Amino acid sequence: MSRFEGRAALVTGAGRGIGAATAMELAKGGCALALNDVDADRLNESAAALRAQGVKVTTHLGSVMESDFIDRFVAEATDEHGKIDLLANNAGGGPPMTPWAEFAKSEFAHFRAIFEMNFFTQAMLLHALLPGMIERGYGKVVCVSSISAVLGQESGSAYASGKLALHALVSSVSKEVARFGVNVNAVVLGNPPHPSRTPDRQAYLDKMSHFDRVGRLEEFGKAIAFLLSDDASYISGAAIPVDGGLIAPRLNE
Ligand SMILES: NC(=O)c1ccc[n+]([C@@H]2O[C@H](COP(=O)([O-])OP(=O)(O)OC[C@H]3O[C@@H](n4cnc5c(N)ncnc54)[C@H](O)[C@@H]3O)[C@@H](O)[C@H]2O)c1
Repeated sequence: MSRFEGRAALVTGAGRGIGAATAMELAKGGCALALNDVDADRLNESAAALRAQGVKVTTHLGSVMESDFIDRFVAEATDEHGKIDLLANNAGGGPPMTPWAEFAKSEFAHFRAIFEMNFFTQAMLLHALLPGMIERGYGKVVCVSSISAVLGQESGSAYASGKLALHALVSSVSKEVARFGVNVNAVVLGNPPHPSRTPDRQAYLDKMSHFDRVGRLEEFGKAIAFLLSDDASYISGAAIPVDGGLIAPRLNE
């Protein structure tokens, strides 16, 4: 039996990047998928690739920044799949038209929006799905964080603060739900590839890693899928680095 047979997962920001890579690892294990993205083309393209794995895939177009959409998404996904067992709380980053800036120079409304995108969106989804997981006695949740949360980031204080708040949410909630068979973890990602990178920035990040390269998308997807699997049944409340050793600096170069 495949490791996710009979399970259904909700994955946000699944149109490309980490979300799509995670969904692919889940699909390879036989998991049914409720996919979300705000970009229709990306969402449809990702869904087509995942359906080719032979699993049921439903698509839910909308922004996780909108609480009405989250309510609708959770209701539709639960209806179409019967239950949601796994949550890959992935969407994050920067909302559109919201520049990142040094804190003292930033507009506070922008700070709030970036924080919201990286914390409240994930908190809302977790809040909406946990009661069902507790009732059924089974659930696995991964919230996608960043090394910026622990290192800090210039012009990224809102992002880093939102991500670090996720760690506190995960460690607190995990204690409340472990006895009901629900695991809640965070992954602290460093150096995934991203289409927005310039070659110079890419070369800089490659050099920072002890592996001399940024991670491959599937390496992040596999780590998240592991935490969503029964192989991780005794891991909860953790914020696990998946960063190619980036948190520990290169001392010799
Ligand atoms: N790429 C990195 O350098 C990096 C580093 C650390 C952590 N992360 C985290 O990984 C997660 C995924 O990032 P990625 O690198 O795959 O990004 P990405 O830009 O490659 O993909 C993000 C996907 O989410 C979708 N999306 C954006 N806003 C959305 C919204 N409001 N609602 C629904 N979908 C939305 C986008 O359309 C896109 O398809 C984020 O939480 C990010 O903070 C990324």
